[in-house]
Amino acid sequence: MSKMWAGRTEGVTSSLADDFNSSIRFDQRMYREDITGSMAHAGMLGATGIITEDESDKLIDGLSEILSDIDSGKLPINPDCEDIHMFVEEVLTSRLGDLGKKLHTARSRNDQVALDTRMYTRSEITSIQEKLISLCEAVIDKAEEYKDYVMPGYTHLQRAQPITFGHQLMCYVEMLGRDIARLSDAKVRVNVSPIGSCALAGTTYHTDRGYEANKLGFDSVSGNSIDGVSDRDFVCETLSDLSIIMMHLSRFSEEIVLWSSWEFKFVELSDSFTTGSSIMPQKKNPDMAELVRGKTGRVYGDLITILTVLKGLPLAYNKDMQEDKECLFDGIDTVKMCLDVFTGMVSSMKANRENMLLAAQKGFINATDLADYLVRKGLPFRSAYKISGRIVAKCIETGKVLETMTIDEYKEFSELFESDLYQEIDLKNCVDKRISEGGTSVSSVEKQIAQAKERISNLKKGLELK
Ligand code: ARG
Repeated sequence: MSKMWAGRTEGVTSSLADDFNSSIRFDQRMYREDITGSMAHAGMLGATGIITEDESDKLIDGLSEILSDIDSGKLPINPDCEDIHMFVEEVLTSRLGDLGKKLHTARSRNDQVALDTRMYTRSEITSIQEKLISLCEAVIDKAEEYKDYVMPGYTHLQRAQPITFGHQLMCYVEMLGRDIARLSDAKVRVNVSPIGSCALAGTTYHTDRGYEANKLGFDSVSGNSIDGVSDRDFVCETLSDLSIIMMHLSRFSEEIVLWSSWEFKFVELSDSFTTGSSIMPQKKNPDMAELVRGKTGRVYGDLITILTVLKGLPLAYNKDMQEDKECLFDGIDTVKMCLDVFTGMVSSMKANRENMLLAAQKGFINATDLADYLVRKGLPFRSAYKISGRIVAKCIETGKVLETMTIDEYKEFSELFESDLYQEIDLKNCVDKRISEGGTSVSSVEKQIAQAKERISNLKKGLELK
């Protein structure tokens, strides 16, 4: 069949070239954006007198019917069309005759595809933000439940200082909060209307770009028509933000994998978010966390794809840019799926208070508190640090822990030790003393939870969520 763009050539291409060139397989998911974008364009053509009001109304009605026919399944999308833009225009023309051919006045597929992709990205960003909020809420719930569970905090994956599980969980809420904010920042740059840039140079018609931007809920209109059709920074930026989200989920996943191992046994994942082994009957595997960790590589790949596609492209539109969509869609789909699964996994996860405490008791994680005790008795920190280090070495040699050393044994290291030291190195007390802002004490974690809840309720208002 001859193409709509036949003219300069016969418009007959080999089926091999057709398959290679076509994007309808993946860009059909933007049919809603394409049609609403076209409705705004038809409205502008009528409002500016480029076509008559009556023609404009008929085009808008025709487009609106196409939209509801696709929605209802009455109109299947033809996979043989080159792309979704051509499909909609072809159906419109088959239904309205010559009038349908007027829709493409004062625009090009170049600004049309940029418009559709921006509209699609904008709404997906909001949906990802909603999912991030749900995950934050699930993590906050757990932090509240486990705010006084004492566990070892780690550096270098070595037991470092006692913390609460609630404190550790709230760390992820901070990360996810930045992810939400980052997406809001990206949305500012996504939400710029390119329509009216036309092929690249603008148009001779007296169009009203503000009209279309306004109808479609854009904050502004792109300032340069070449940039309007060439820019895919917003795809790079969105995929960067999605990569950072995945990096955060991947770190969280890694901890969940560790915590649910027999070596740690800090948490137990629910049966509904774990799998068994086909050969080893004892296995309960954290596949969901592992898959999220694995899919992080995939989203990084999506980012690298678009960066590499754009690198070295001359202005303005090049067909290479059609490669922007599969990586964008894949990144969006992957992140949404990961967030849903992660939220379910976290909400149904249970922490084990005894095992956390047991681990906390074994690693001399109150040695800093022992040194601080001597500092309070008048020693400079470096000297106190050295004495505490020697005491730890002695404990390791004799198979003791700081709590089981007698006061006489302590006095061999310093006369400053009195029996009140035991209170100072009590793990629960070590946690409760850390009342500094953002610290690990229960009171401080409670503050973090309250602040996070407030931030989330403000965010929900901003996103117009219930
Ligand atoms: N399917 C194309 C894309 O996704 C639409 C734009 C085509 N423009 C063109 N001049 N061939 O990029």
